[in-house]
Order: sequence, then C-alpha cells, then structure tokens
Amino acid sequence: MLAQINMYLFAVWTAVSQWPINLLSSTSPFREIFTVPASADNGALLIPNIQDPQAVDVQTVCPGYTASNVQTNDYGLSASLTLAGKACDVYGTDVESLSLNVEYQSAERLSINISPSNVDASNSSHYILSEQLVPRPSRDSDYKSDIKDHDLQFSWSNDPTFLFTVTRKSTGDVLYSSKGSVLVYEDQFVEFVSSLPENYNLYGLGEHIHGLRLGNNYTATIYAADTGDPIDYNIYGSQPFYLDTRYFEVDSDGKKTLVTSTATDPCKKYESYSHGTYLRNAHGQEVLLRPENITWRTLGGSIDLFFFDGPSQPEVTKAYQTGAIGLPAMQQYFTFGYHQCRWGYKNWTQLNEVVETFKKFDIPLETIWTDIDYMSQYRDFSNDENTFSVSEGQKFLSQLHANGQHYVPIVDSAIYIPNPSNASDAYGVYTRGNDSNVFLSNPDGSQYIGAVWPGYTVFPDWHSDESVPWWSNEMVQWYKDIQFDGIWIDMSEVSSFCVGSCGSGNVTLNPVHPPFSLPGEPGNIVYDYPEGFNITNSTEAASVSAASSSAASATATATAILTSSSTTPDYLRTTPTPGVRNVNHPPYVINNVQGDLAVHAVSPNATHHDGVEEYDVHNLFGHQILNATYQGLLAVFPTKRPFIIGRSTFAGSGKWAGHWGGDNASKWFYMYFSIPQALSFSLFGIPMFGVDTCGFNGNSDAELCSRWMQLSAFFPFYRNHNVLSAISQEPYVWASVTAATKTAMQIRYSLLPYLYTLFHAAHTRGDTVMRALAWEFPNDPSLANADRQFLLGPSLMVVPVLEQGAASVNGVFPGVPTTVWYDWYGQTAVSAKAGENVTIEAPLGHIPVYIRGGAVLPTQAPGYTTTESRKNPWGLVVALDAQGSAEGSLYLDDGESITPESTLDVEFRAAKGSLKVQMEGKFEDTNALANVTVLGVEGCSGSVKLNGQAVTGAKYDGESKVLSVTGLEDLTKGGAWKGGWELSWS
Ligand code: GLC
Repeated sequence: MLAQINMYLFAVWTAVSQWPINLLSSTSPFREIFTVPASADNGALLIPNIQDPQAVDVQTVCPGYTASNVQTNDYGLSASLTLAGKACDVYGTDVESLSLNVEYQSAERLSINISPSNVDASNSSHYILSEQLVPRPSRDSDYKSDIKDHDLQFSWSNDPTFLFTVTRKSTGDVLYSSKGSVLVYEDQFVEFVSSLPENYNLYGLGEHIHGLRLGNNYTATIYAADTGDPIDYNIYGSQPFYLDTRYFEVDSDGKKTLVTSTATDPCKKYESYSHGTYLRNAHGQEVLLRPENITWRTLGGSIDLFFFDGPSQPEVTKAYQTGAIGLPAMQQYFTFGYHQCRWGYKNWTQLNEVVETFKKFDIPLETIWTDIDYMSQYRDFSNDENTFSVSEGQKFLSQLHANGQHYVPIVDSAIYIPNPSNASDAYGVYTRGNDSNVFLSNPDGSQYIGAVWPGYTVFPDWHSDESVPWWSNEMVQWYKDIQFDGIWIDMSEVSSFCVGSCGSGNVTLNPVHPPFSLPGEPGNIVYDYPEGFNITNSTEAASVSAASSSAASATATATAILTSSSTTPDYLRTTPTPGVRNVNHPPYVINNVQGDLAVHAVSPNATHHDGVEEYDVHNLFGHQILNATYQGLLAVFPTKRPFIIGRSTFAGSGKWAGHWGGDNASKWFYMYFSIPQALSFSLFGIPMFGVDTCGFNGNSDAELCSRWMQLSAFFPFYRNHNVLSAISQEPYVWASVTAATKTAMQIRYSLLPYLYTLFHAAHTRGDTVMRALAWEFPNDPSLANADRQFLLGPSLMVVPVLEQGAASVNGVFPGVPTTVWYDWYGQTAVSAKAGENVTIEAPLGHIPVYIRGGAVLPTQAPGYTTTESRKNPWGLVVALDAQGSAEGSLYLDDGESITPESTLDVEFRAAKGSLKVQMEGKFEDTNALANVTVLGVEGCSGSVKLNGQAVTGAKYDGESKVLSVTGLEDLTKGGAWKGGWELSWS
C-alpha cells in the first residue's frame, strides 16, 4: 500500500511541485525575459549506490582497523586505530591512522569519537565539523565520573579487527555493537555498522516524510534538498538523531526479556527502555536500516557519536537538548494564534480583504503572511511599489497592529545579482553584501552565481564574519519600511535552480525566469484535487477531469518525445583518485532525491571564505541562516523573542526557530504524514512545528480542509498555506470548513495557557510539546507504531479522522483502565478496554479530543486574538484520575520578552474533594476566575466552598459525574492567581 502511495506521490510531486520543464519548452514565460534553460538544472546521470548492482560492499573488501596505545583516564579512554591490512580505497582514500576518544560526559551521556589522527592543515581532505558551526558537547563541569557504575558501558576488542560495543547496565542489553563488521574510514566515505535487535523500534533520522516508526527496510538519506515532500526521500532538513525504544517482558521475579513483537498480551507486564543516538556530522549521509543492523555511511567528517541514556523518551529528549543541541526557543504568545498564508496574495488590498473576511466570519486570525508576491521582482528586503508599496503597507500594518494582529513576510535565502549593464537594476542589498564580501565563491575566487526566483543570484556565506552583520542590517533597514513581526525563511537547503555557477557570464541577462513555469503560468495549471473529490464534488470533478485530460495528453506527448530513448543508461561512476577528493561527484552515490548533489542546490564545490567547500557543510546552510535571522530580529527587537519559521534545519535549529513541513499537497495521506513529521521534530528539539494546512500543491476541497483545519489546531504552529494558482482555501471559503475551524479554534484558544505553559517547559527543561502515545505510555509495546493519534503535552489526546469519506475513526485509549480519559465535549469518562480499538463517531466538523484523568488544565475564554484572549477570565478543567486526584501547572509572563521582568508559576493540586492552588512569582494577571469544571466526581452534594466560603453557582450532575462551578468572578476579583486558594466540594 505504502509503495503504491509512494509511486502515486512521486507522480504528483514531479507533476506539481517540480513543475516539469518539459511542459515549458513551448510556452512563453509570463515575463518577457530570458528563461534559464531547463537543461541548466540537469546533473550527471548517477545510480545511487544502494540500487547499483555493480556497487562494491566495503564490508567484504576493507581491512578494518587495529586499536593500540590504549590509554584510560578518569573519564574514558583514548587509542590509536591503524589500518589492519591493505587499503581498500573503495569510495575514497583509506585513512591510515585514526584516533579514538571515548568520554563519559555526564551521568546520561557517552561520547565516542573516531577522527583522522592527522587532519592536514588546510583541513580539506578530512573536513571535521567546526565547533563554531555546531558546538560539540563537552563533559559536564560538575560531572564526577564513575565509569564502572555508568549505565552505559563502552567496551572494545581487536578480535578480529577493532570493534566496540555499548551496553546498558540496567537492562543488560547491547545498544550498539560493531561486532561482525569492519570500520571503513576513507576521505570521502565513512561506514560503521551496528547490529540491532529483531524488529527494533527506531524513530527520528530526519527529515523525511515517513511513518513515525522507521521500520527495518528503509534508507534514510540525510542531505538537505529543495523538493516537494516526496515520501521516503531526503527533504529539507538534516537531523542525524534517532531514538531507540526496546520493550521487555518482566516476569514475576523481575527478570526482563526483550520482546520483538508489538503484539501485546494484556496479562503480561512490560517495561520499555529508550536511548538516543546523535551523530554530530553534517556531511551528506545515509542511514541504512536493515532487519539486523543499522549502517551509517557519510561522505566525510568524523564519527562523533553521542549516546543518551533514558530510561524513556522524555529523559532522552531532555538529555539530547540540554546536553548536546540546546533547548528550543521560547515563542511569543501571539505565535500560538492562527496564521493565514498563501502564495498568490496579489496586493495589500487583497490582503486586507482576507483579514476583513476572517473578521466578518468571526474566525480568529492572528497573523497574516505574505509569500514572494510582495517583493519587487522577488528580491529580498524589497517591496513591489505597484502592489505592495511601502506607504500602503505602513497604513495596512498600523491598522493590523492596532487590531492586535501580526504580519510575517517570507525572506528567501538567495540574493539577486543585478544586471551590471542596466544602472536602474542596482540592488542595494547586493551592493552592500558585495562590498562586505559576504557571498559564496567559485573555486577560482569568482562569485558563485546560481538562480532562484528573482533570476541569477548569489548566496550568503555564513562562514564570513561580515555576513551576519550584513544580514542583520538589511533586516533593520527594511523594518523601517515594513513593520514585520517575524520572518519566514525559505529556500534554505540552499536551493538553486541550476547546476553550478550557471549565472557566471550571464548576469547581463538578469532578471531571468526560472527554468520551469510557475503554477498558473501557461502549461502549468493546477488541476489536482484531493482523493475522493469525484465523490464529494461530482459535477465539478467531471469538468475538471475533462480539462485535465486534454492537458495530460499534451504532457504525455511531450514526455514521450523526451523519454523515447531506449539505450541503457550510461551512469557516471567515479573512481577515487588517491588523496584527491571529487566533491562534485563523490565515488559513493547517496540516494539523494535530486540525484546529483548539485541539482537544485548550490554545488558542492562552491567555496566559503575559510576555504571550506560547500560539500562539507551543505547541510548547515539552513541552520546558519536561522541563526543570522535570529540575530537580525534581535537587532530589530532587542528585547523580544525572535519568531522565525524556517525550511531547512539541522540538529539544534530549535534554539532559534520553528519549522513548517514544506511543500506537501492537498492529499489525505499528507494530512496523516503531518503527525509523524511533527512527532519527529519533537525528538529533534523543534517543537514549533506545523504543516501547510489544507495542503500546499494542488487544490484542496471542503472535506479535506475541514478535517485538516481541525487537526492542525492541535499542532503548535497553526498555519494554512497554499500554492500559487490553486483555488482559495482560507477557512471561510466553505461554510462547513468555517464551522469546523471555529469549533477547533475555540478549543485551541481556550487552551492557549496550557500550550504556552508546555512551551515554557520545553524551553526550560526540554519537555516535548506534541507527544507520541508510546512516549507517554512507555510500557505498552502495542503503541510502538501509533502515529495516527497523538498527545498535546501530557494531558490532551487527539484522535483525528484521516480518511476521506469517514464519519468515524478508530482510536485506542492508552493506559486504560488505570488511566481515565474524558471526552472533551461530553466531559464524561470514556469506557474502553485495554488495547481495544474503539470506533469513535466523528462526523465532518467533529474532531475527537480527550483529557487525561489526573490533569488540571488552565483555560481562558477565547477572544478574537491572543491579546484579547489574554484579557479574558480564567477557567480550570480538573480531570480526576481513578483515585480522585489531578495536578497541573500554569506559566505566565508578558508573552514576548526574552528575559521577562516578572513571571508567575501556578501549581494546581486536586485530591480528596479539594483543589489547592499555589503560586510563585510576581507577574500580575488581573483576570478573575470564571469557572472550575471537575470531571469524574464520585458523588457530591453540590456544596462547594472557596477558601471556606460557600459558592452559589455550583451544579453537580450525578450521571455525567461533572461538577460545574461558575460565578466565581466576584470571589476572585482582581485576579485568579493573586494568592493561593482552595476550592472544596463535598
Ligand atoms: C517554496 C516554499 C513555499 C512557497 C514557495 C514560493 O516552494 O516551500 O512555501 O510558497 O516557495 O515562495
């Protein structure tokens, strides 16, 4: 099934997102300008190593290494590794001598580093990731090593060649073992292998569109690519981290036996243990997951492995963030409101109409976004004076801000290089960058010139000390014209629409058109609709199908002409030259979605100021532009938390930015994939995640958009975005979507205080925000695969409908009967058996949401904007567990400062018929408490007291077991959290 979807998807992706060049040859561009020839983006014909029948398996021919000179110290050991036989030089030149360094860095972190012993001075044949670019975790200063007692135990042997294992003392199982394999270390290829238990559960290794549990027949390629979300291929970000969860059956004597199946016996007791593994390596790489092992292959760099002990996901994720990559950025309160975007908003007037239409339909709109349409000829930090003029923009923005709403524009990664033969084409952003020498070069020192939306472009070189100040200054200057509230960073893989420095010598042609037609230009009409559109919209579907089949036949003819050749492909295979790297066509071919590494990206031989080739740091461009933009926003708003959503990320990008899932399509399966993608980004420490709701490529329809607007309401970042030329998909376009959206937004906005509190816990402690069921219920093996439902924080579970035409959804209620779940709407406890797949009624417009017993959720009456919501009275939902207890917390501050002047932490504890509230901190909130709703109250006379004083507005319903206490405003006048209080019921 997945394979079928995959094939189908590939077709959609090629047809819609790539905007195939064969459609273009006979069409005229919408600007009468030179079009970059389609062939400019063609790379060499390569066959990925994993598909190449001629590929040599290094394991069969390479000699491995021998360890010697082993020196132990208080924190680990060091050793020399020497090639154990004749060099094999399969995909590069073997490195004779390596250094091994093992360090116990903290109670939960073990580092294993293998690097070339003699990195040459220019660092060019073995680029080792700079600590300035990606900090290397070092030993915790307060860590007192006790190697013997560490839960993670490193051991090694030379039998038959160097191998190492990492075992976990607490469970006695082997987490990593290179036994049975050889270590291969060449200048352009590093391979290390570990066995894994049968049917292992691995998660992470991004960025991919794939189910949450990766499975054991999957190759995760990690190479940042600009591509419209094809399933199972490498896409925008690089996240070399995995979580490994193992389930054990525990017998009556406490003996643990690893279980290899997710089929769970309700009579048995299970426990799980998780650990994390991070490879601090930014090279293009591939991780091969096979039934018995995991093989890591990189195109360079070092083996810089970090193991994070559990015992379960929360500890692993915390350890990974606090000990290695950094904690995620705290977001401003407004960023949790709803965001509306599309490619194709034509001018400020239209944008204003959108804002007003939201208001007219009373659909909360917090932030309006603009895509590249606003720019003057697609040039960064500029406005089209005819459509998005600065003067009109300022009026629009001041009104928008006065209404408590916000504005986020897109900023692309490439910089237009003006036509030198046309003085009026001068572009200050380029001139200033060029004067400061901040752009990437060709190996001969000339400027590297690729092509993106505006035409031929140059690319910031983040290795130049001047680049961040220049970028930051451009943001500061542009802000004087356009008062944005955050920045959307795009094309940061970094994308270029041609191979190599295609603009060199051609800049006098600028501005030029990209080598493909844009959606909506002749020959590229968006006809695609979601699955099931023919059922739900039969009349419209019939006319669409007539129109699209005539377009398709034209395409088929064009394609046939182009693909009629029947000769055997003549693949380029690179033979390594001793000591000389071939960065453009490395001997080992990773399974890159674009094939050749240079296709649709800046080429590997582009050169940075420090001499480093793009080949070695390609995966970091997107990470570094987020840093630069973070610094830029700090220059604009020195005290405010920068709000950035970026496309390409690396390990640690979460400390600066959030991420959206990229160019998905208006298809049902993409709505499903948004869940595993989000959960993976929870593991990567980027909790501010959301996808293009209702779908980007192709047209959406009412049913899909209705379900999706409801689902995304429970993602941290909630934005609807659409491709140029597709039909409109704002939630007011269809009445059913309007209604569904309002229902879901009502819940989201009520829970903003909960979401904000979760983010604070993520930012300060490394908690995750969106959570997989398996992480919250770690001892249930049947949840290892669960990615069609999820939790927001620990206490809210969402079971969305993900299928077209469905009016119900199957869901599981983890933890029952020990855990009680309450239906959000009906407020009653769900009756479900352990492991049971419950059919939940979910007609269109209804998204099943459940509260976990044991939780106290702070709520606030929703307003039109988050600012308004923050002025509204408070509420509490107390969902009692089976023992009649519950707890929760609330974090408050001014919602925007990096270092708030004051903060407030409120703790809620309910037990034995009373709810106690305590607070700490000086942040003042003057809103009263309106209501407290207690779920699961067993028998109650309805007599309720606040601090001993009788409360009149209490109602108890014995059937639903809900105690509703209202009318508390007078008793809490001046602020619900001014001082501690107790609410009791009997
Ligand atoms: C890229 C982005 C997409 C945006 C488009 C035009 O495809 O991923 O979100 O709309 O460029 O800027």
